[in-house]
Amino acid sequence: MSQEEADLEARLEEQDTFEPPESFVEQANVADPGIYDEFEENWPECWDQAAEFLDWEESYDEILDESTAPTYRWFTNGKLNASYNCLDRHVEDGAKNRAAIKWEGELGETRTYTYSDLLNEVNEFASALRDLGVEEDDVVTMYMPMVPELPIAMLACARIGAPHSVVFAGFSADALATRMNDADSEYLITTDGYYRRGDALDHLSKTNEGLDDVEHETTTVVVDRLGTELEHSLADGQHDYDELVDAHAGETVEPVTRDAEDMLFLMYTSGTTGKPKGVKHTTGGYLSYAAWTSHAVLDLKPEDTYWCSADIGWITGHSYILYGPLALGTTTVMYEGTPDYPEKDRFWEIIEKNRVDVFYTAPTAIRAFMKWGEEYPERHDLSSLRLLGTVGEPINPRAWKWYYEHIGGSDCPIVDTWWQTETGGHMITTLPGICEMKPGSAGPGLPGLDVQIVDGAGEEIDAGQAGYLTVQKPWPGMLRTLYRNDDRFVSEYWKEYSDPEADEWVYFPEDGAKIDEDGYITVLGRVDDVINVSGHRLGTMEIESAVVGVEGIAEAAVVGGDHDVKGEAVYVYAIPEDGREGQEASLEEAAIEGVIDSIGPIAKPEEVIFTPELPKTRSGKIMRRLLEDIASGNELGNTSTLRNPEVVDDIADQVGGN
Ligand code: WT7
Repeated sequence: MSQEEADLEARLEEQDTFEPPESFVEQANVADPGIYDEFEENWPECWDQAAEFLDWEESYDEILDESTAPTYRWFTNGKLNASYNCLDRHVEDGAKNRAAIKWEGELGETRTYTYSDLLNEVNEFASALRDLGVEEDDVVTMYMPMVPELPIAMLACARIGAPHSVVFAGFSADALATRMNDADSEYLITTDGYYRRGDALDHLSKTNEGLDDVEHETTTVVVDRLGTELEHSLADGQHDYDELVDAHAGETVEPVTRDAEDMLFLMYTSGTTGKPKGVKHTTGGYLSYAAWTSHAVLDLKPEDTYWCSADIGWITGHSYILYGPLALGTTTVMYEGTPDYPEKDRFWEIIEKNRVDVFYTAPTAIRAFMKWGEEYPERHDLSSLRLLGTVGEPINPRAWKWYYEHIGGSDCPIVDTWWQTETGGHMITTLPGICEMKPGSAGPGLPGLDVQIVDGAGEEIDAGQAGYLTVQKPWPGMLRTLYRNDDRFVSEYWKEYSDPEADEWVYFPEDGAKIDEDGYITVLGRVDDVINVSGHRLGTMEIESAVVGVEGIAEAAVVGGDHDVKGEAVYVYAIPEDGREGQEASLEEAAIEGVIDSIGPIAKPEEVIFTPELPKTRSGKIMRRLLEDIASGNELGNTSTLRNPEVVDDIADQVGGN
């Protein structure tokens, strides 16, 4: 490191606020600080500004209907189609030759779809889906890796008014079956396989395994990603995507008129109980919110090339690879593979090659890049970048500053965006052309949102104190319900701090947070039994039930422990059945396999710790907090209130001598 660089680093280390660069402010989509007051004074009419990003077939009567709260209704009786808004209108407006999707395959091949290419293929596939029997409101499941046919299939569904339910391709066969059964989804789109670090993975066998557990007849479309001869492996009721599209070449499908409140998609996510929740998002509210936040927070412009490195199997990919950017007519980059293939500079190569303007990634990736060292970004010209973003988990100031300096060249604002599957889009973040940045703190709530940090009784707390994050006013991108489970919707999100009798509803996202004197919020993490591994949300109860399903394991507790790259990692504490002592090695292997089979490799335990007992309170509750502290190597507090304090030392000795 040169002296100059060393000085810069030392200065950064000390600095705790950063102003957006003048060059950014001058061109920012939103640069008037008055927007905060304007939205507050003019609420809920302010959300008209979000709806204006879309073309409506029929305008709405009312911005917000609160009469069925907490199931709020936005833009009532407005009519529109999401696929029309993401495709046709841009083609009609003269952008037909602009790239919509630039796809980078892991092995180095690329594909570019202009807006008109994309519209054509979406039309053809929409027509094929109709031919297969898909009708409006049928849920179509997609179990696909990052290939262009995934967004094509999603937009084709949106075109014919069939809600999609995308299941992350890394999830297990079991997870696929659970979601298809819950949604009664009779259609599935999948691939034969995909590439990971150069190896071809067999995805079709996993799909078929899942289909064996689906309780109803299904029709499946298979995309040939590996170039294998599909007809040899397709079963009855399974169709080759290419053949379908060829058979419908040149056909067009009129975009179906959808009501603003009609479901656009379902997305399953983990909660406190073992059963995943089907989060329902709508056409009008969700799409306006995705578009507005892409404009205000990600500062996207139609002429931008933008890259979000998430997977479309998560909400980040839905809102900020697909719907937001395409609603704005931007070029969105989509990468199939991992950041370290063929080398650890793959991301920087993609940015340089595509002249990416705005880049959005996760803290876990940034921590891995930091570990690999700045020599990798230094090999590339990253000067096209104008704005950086992060999402998924808290970012520690050190990682923030590394990102700022080594990727942003100390010249790009960073937006640290807090939100959730349920919120549909960004909620807490700085506006990059207005706000100063404080590394480690996401920032204030967005204009029009009423975010408050409260104590256990729901009272707003003082600056500096830790409390619970709440959202006290509805917003257009919010979930409407949990699919076919309105009761669970109310009990999961609206119970703690609402006053139903007074018709006062407060959304509780199950995160802890603190707020400073300037209203900047630092999110501290989940306060429920959900853990965040590399920005992926996992329910500890789901993992626990997989572990206790393993023969030879009597009881288990699963917690998250600190991890320097993943943020949190999965730790399993397990009690072997009587007579199984001494078989820990094989039990550990079986437990890990059990978790991978029931959820997927993302939930793979870091460590399985065997113990004759779990630490329990006198009333018999497992002391999860204590197990978390042991896993994280934290100082252990007073354990004398336990029924069995002696087990704690035993366990702690096993966990790497913490
Ligand atoms: C949970 C939601 C939002 C898309 C990706 C995750 C955590 C998310 C941040 C952030 C601190 C964050 C929260 C939240 N989270 N973004 N910027 N700072 N924590 O979506 O799978 O629904 O998970 O991720 O704990 O509740 P998700």
